[in-house]
Amino acid sequence: TPTFRIALIAGDGIGKEVMPEGLRVVQAAAERFGFELDCRTIDWASCDYHAQHGQMMPDDWKEQLQGVDALYFGAVGWPATVPDHVSLWGSLLKFRREFDQYINLRPVRLFEGVPCPLAGRRPGDIDYVVVRENTEGEYTSLGGVMYEGTEREIVIQESVFSRHGTDRVLRYACELANSRARKHLTVATKSNGIAISMPWWDGRADAIGRDYPEVTVDKQHIDILSARFVLQPTRFDVVVASNLFGDILSDLGPATTGTIGLAPSANLNPERRFPSLFEPVHGSAPDIYGQNIANPIAMIWSGALMLDFLTQGQGAGRAAHDAILGAIEAVLRDGPRTRDLGGTASTTELGMAIAERVAAA
Ligand code: NAD
Ligand code: IPM
Ligand code: MN
Repeated sequence: TPTFRIALIAGDGIGKEVMPEGLRVVQAAAERFGFELDCRTIDWASCDYHAQHGQMMPDDWKEQLQGVDALYFGAVGWPATVPDHVSLWGSLLKFRREFDQYINLRPVRLFEGVPCPLAGRRPGDIDYVVVRENTEGEYTSLGGVMYEGTEREIVIQESVFSRHGTDRVLRYACELANSRARKHLTVATKSNGIAISMPWWDGRADAIGRDYPEVTVDKQHIDILSARFVLQPTRFDVVVASNLFGDILSDLGPATTGTIGLAPSANLNPERRFPSLFEPVHGSAPDIYGQNIANPIAMIWSGALMLDFLTQGQGAGRAAHDAILGAIEAVLRDGPRTRDLGGTASTTELGMAIAERVAAA
């Protein structure tokens, strides 16, 4: 039996509530499809760990994760006690960079049984993937504050777009589009306003796109692109975007499918030189933490993406992924439902209902 070593980092807030449900379903799939998960629970988060140690992770965190095949991650962030940039740069953003997880894959799909806030849209009308650049772009710590505390105060926050970093995410998106039926790629840009990096980004999209003659490349400014996520969602198949634009689009897209509580994400190092990380798109949701009402489906779907990525080429992982997606579809159609889906079921009830269907699939 193939064995995968998984580091479980539940994190803060509802990360701690959705993790057990994700694990329940992933373990049901492992049992059913014949692979072994060797899981290690790790408590690095803002709440307990940072409170005790004054930092998000130990200095030797990378050594401690040696040999791990994947990270299954809930969410970190507890702004009441630790500033968000400290939590995130000390944890999730560090993993993405140090493990070179330069692809952040975020599927968006409208399911049967989930009322769409966009009148008249049916499942199938909304079914696309956001490919988000995940290691550079607008997310940097470069810059500074000058004349601090005076009326002349100036803040500079730099962006970084490397040719290597840009080309590889564009190529990944082209490959993905090329592998799909519609072969359509939307490139998010803002070359009208952001006058240096974005015209250059467009040029790289043209250059890489030329290697994929069957892929239609459609560049759209981020403002109208956001509007079209709402007005014309059927236009989209694969959407590639810089780090910040991809972040925004990947909350907006799932909102048009009813709730961000469904949205999964895969932070990939496609070459597998480092472990990849699988997590919901959403955060730690302090506003609902402690009530057992968070929707666990984003976490569960992320687990399905993890099994698919880990076992690529073996069949069992794909079967496990498909069984989990089938169980999610069935539960969304027939219930139970959490509160964000208009129901009254708990996080645990949803997790158990999905796990049961996976086991029986
Ligand atoms: P959030 O995603 O945590 O919550 C936004 C809203 O969506 C809240 O009203 C919340 O109740 C709701 N929501 C989120 N997930 C849900 C679920 N599974 N089921 C039902 N409702 C759900 O975003 P935020 O409020 O901006 O951030 C809260 C904290 O989480 C901050 O510390 C932030 O930095 C952090 N954060 C972490 C991650 C991550 O670790 N990947 C992602 C986003 C935000
Ligand atoms: C996400 C989150 C993170 C991001 C935050 C918490 C730094 O919003 O994974 O989408 O912006 O990448
Ligand atoms: Mn986000």
